[in-house]
Amino acid sequence: MHQETPRAPARGSGPPTGSEVEELLHAAALAPSSHNTQPWRVRWHDGAVEVHGDPERMLPAADPVGRELRMACGAAMVNVRLKARTQGRRVHAQLMPDPDDPWFLGRVRPGAPLVPSDWEVELAAAIPRRHTNRHPFTGPPLSVTLRAELERAAWRERCRLIVVADPRERRRLREITVEAHQRQQSDPAFLAEWERWVGHPDRVDDGLPPAHARRAPRPDDAWRPRDFAGSVPDADRSSAPEPGQDEPTIAVLTSYDDTALTHVRAGQAMQQVLLTATARGVGASFIAPPVELPDVRTEVRALLGGVMWPQVVLRLGRGRPVYPTPRRQSGH
Ligand SMILES: Cc1cc2nc3c(=O)[nH]c(=O)nc-3n(C[C@H](O)[C@H](O)[C@H](O)COP(=O)(O)O)c2cc1C
Repeated sequence: MHQETPRAPARGSGPPTGSEVEELLHAAALAPSSHNTQPWRVRWHDGAVEVHGDPERMLPAADPVGRELRMACGAAMVNVRLKARTQGRRVHAQLMPDPDDPWFLGRVRPGAPLVPSDWEVELAAAIPRRHTNRHPFTGPPLSVTLRAELERAAWRERCRLIVVADPRERRRLREITVEAHQRQQSDPAFLAEWERWVGHPDRVDDGLPPAHARRAPRPDDAWRPRDFAGSVPDADRSSAPEPGQDEPTIAVLTSYDDTALTHVRAGQAMQQVLLTATARGVGASFIAPPVELPDVRTEVRALLGGVMWPQVVLRLGRGRPVYPTPRRQSGH
């Protein structure tokens, strides 16, 4: 007699299992954050993942209003949403759900079964493969098609990615970046904060390990301002690429306004761009100095036409693979 094999429950039916919840919390923890502060508290509560910003992990010198903190939490939200989709469930996401709690930045509630699209599966697979790549980028510039794809990725979260292609604008943005970096390097509060998070021997599961932070300066350092010990003045370096090394694609992630909610949204857009880039074999690093100093940020805003708010500058291209940075245990 033919025996029916018992069917495994369809993926996505019923509430997430314990290990699925763990996967969701782990995905959140893989988000990028400035100085790898991981400025979040992520927990499973009442059938949903909650992402709370942790003001104790804020960078008062580099990020006095918590803009970058909220962006990092927005990136974590995207990771959770995508992971929940690959677990076969709809997602119901809310940003800043409690008007009385400005640090409750988002909630993701997995819902009824829904098979993920191939693209969602690809993006989710990129979550653990995405790492900040500070190596020089080589090869041809990103194709128009790829650029358009990255622009659409930002638009999924109602933000705009503006590629800075005009040579004069690129030159000006690079000058602005060098100036902002120099000002930060001569600010004792910024340096003290840097020392606490970057290359600190006591940091095990957060901050930047020495290998990521203390390399010799290289010729195109203008686009990689925090990739060295800061011992060589910028003026001593050429900003021209080495032979065989191409100019990276430079793009500014921008938003239509500049509220706390928008910062979380901009973080979501940033992560959509970064995961799309990773899925397409493109590396990225961040150039935060020009948007961290308010007056310099105003200049960048003007350079882009005066309407959009710059949230982060990204350097995009193809480079050698990089190692992951450490993470705190998820859920803590
Ligand atoms: C908003 C934001 C700004 C950042 N700014 C810089 C930067 O200016 N320079 C840099 O080298 N890395 C920057 N980073 C990258 C972080 O250092 C990096 O995300 C963190 O060390 C974790 O490493 P991972 O991205 O490889 O996971 C920034 C990240 C975020 C989210």
